[in-house]
Amino acid sequence: MTVSRVKIYSRLRAGAFLLLALFFIGASAFADRPPVAAIASAHPLATQAGMEILGAGGNAFDAAVAVSAVLAVVEPYSSGVGGGGFWLLHRERDGHDVMVDGREKAPLAASRTMYLDSSGDVVPDLSIDGALAVGIPGEPAALTHIADRYGRLPLKRTLASAIRLARDGFPVDSHYRRMAQFRLAALQADQEAAGIFLSDDEVPAVGERIVQPDLAATLESMARYGRAGFYKGPVARRLVAGVRAAGGIWTREDLDEYRVVEREPVRFEYGGMRVTSVAPPSSGGIALATILNILSGFALDELDEAARTHVIVEAMRRAYRDRAEFLGDADFVAVPVERLTSTGYAQRLRQSIRLEQATASASLKGQAGRQGGRDTTHFSILDGEGNRVAATLSINYPFGACVVPPGTGVLLNDEMDDFSAKPGVPNVYGLVGAEANAIAAGKRPLSSMSPTFVESADGIAILGTPGGSRIITMILLGILDLADGMRPASWVGLPRFHHQYLPDVVQYEPDAFDPQVISSLEKRGHRLQPLDSTYGNMQAIYWDRKTGRVYAASDPRGVGEARVGVSGSSLRGTQ
Ligand code: GLY
Repeated sequence: MTVSRVKIYSRLRAGAFLLLALFFIGASAFADRPPVAAIASAHPLATQAGMEILGAGGNAFDAAVAVSAVLAVVEPYSSGVGGGGFWLLHRERDGHDVMVDGREKAPLAASRTMYLDSSGDVVPDLSIDGALAVGIPGEPAALTHIADRYGRLPLKRTLASAIRLARDGFPVDSHYRRMAQFRLAALQADQEAAGIFLSDDEVPAVGERIVQPDLAATLESMARYGRAGFYKGPVARRLVAGVRAAGGIWTREDLDEYRVVEREPVRFEYGGMRVTSVAPPSSGGIALATILNILSGFALDELDEAARTHVIVEAMRRAYRDRAEFLGDADFVAVPVERLTSTGYAQRLRQSIRLEQATASASLKGQAGRQGGRDTTHFSILDGEGNRVAATLSINYPFGACVVPPGTGVLLNDEMDDFSAKPGVPNVYGLVGAEANAIAAGKRPLSSMSPTFVESADGIAILGTPGGSRIITMILLGILDLADGMRPASWVGLPRFHHQYLPDVVQYEPDAFDPQVISSLEKRGHRLQPLDSTYGNMQAIYWDRKTGRVYAASDPRGVGEARVGVSGSSLRGTQ
């Protein structure tokens, strides 16, 4: 297998690299326990809350509950108890790896044609804004499950920071303003949401406080009654009443029967490293396996930058074609996981790649993928015992469906848009899905969220990012960079590019390619689409087992914070 050294990724922007320089604290060589804990999250208040929990004797799983809950309060545009996510856990004492699937489910009254008009056409925005767009939330069930099964501290303790921040408020920053501006009309359309997240129906100024007393009460109900504090009793009654009053189709039964699922992660090897990532209903683990299995047959380090980029793009193209064709909720459809992640299958795909010529996506039968980058959140945690968590959480579009059932403070997701409303018709991000991801009652929509661990004899990486369909290619570039000997500050800062089969374009961040590479890719027949802004918000940790150092970094594109050591050093992404 080839351990690639991909020079393209070493073209790091000096400023970002400097600001996100690695953190480390030395320790004895070849330690079997990390010398210190580390947390990287998309918001400093969440990182701080997690560190406090570790300092109070909690483990990585307790900290994950605290970080998730604080992100739900201070990043209402990204994730929340009205949404869902995937928590990838590793318990060190017995080597137990598990994916906690807290993905939203379609309501029991959902149907495959619910977003179509009488002519069979997709009604724009029906799966994005308002109560019909909302899936049954999974995050409250996931948090209480993780606390009960893996944590050490009571929810009363792990939810305390989130409850305080909801009650006392947090200050608006410029990122909040951008997200609220983007979703202003939808927020204005829901009186309760506007009352909480806007100021006199307009985007609040930087420094204004967002106070969420109803959300504090809902979190308190969860702290007191666990799962039942959300899915039963007064909170559940208000949720269902609010959704139905706003035109939605929820019933009490939907909430009552929601359960998290513990799933076996997807595992595969690349360049002597073992990759552990998430299984369906995420497409992430399978797509990463396909791409990296294809790439393992190329001597990437012997190719020039344009040729390397070309084969990486061709591998992305093929994996994304399969994503749309075959992937969906494996509880409802047969997903050929073994075939798609097998090296034999990758070899056949590899043989179809020509080094000097791009493959037109139109010549590969299939459907399209989805873009994005504004929504969702990720955090990574390593505790001093070696337990670890990679979690990617979402309410889908910024501020989700922009619906808050009165008296709950719960901002609801619009994850129903991750289904294919109609095979062949793109969703808000350009997603066109196939039968495997069609809507059905109680089904989970296909996701790209890909929290991932990478292990080798040398060290352990924990990484993930938001970014819609680009999540998978961001994780891929991070893994290739790790294989290249780089550390988290590099993975989170490197320039990104992406191909998702359809549209048949190579998207790239400003300055990701120099003119010579662009020209060489174009000569091969690639259509290049420069983006006018960056995307993603990766949060990453690396424990170097050879040196005993722990590194953590937060993406310079966001406002997050990575910390090493319970009381330890921190550095914030500032770009
Ligand atoms: N809603 C984003 C994702 O699950 O991929």
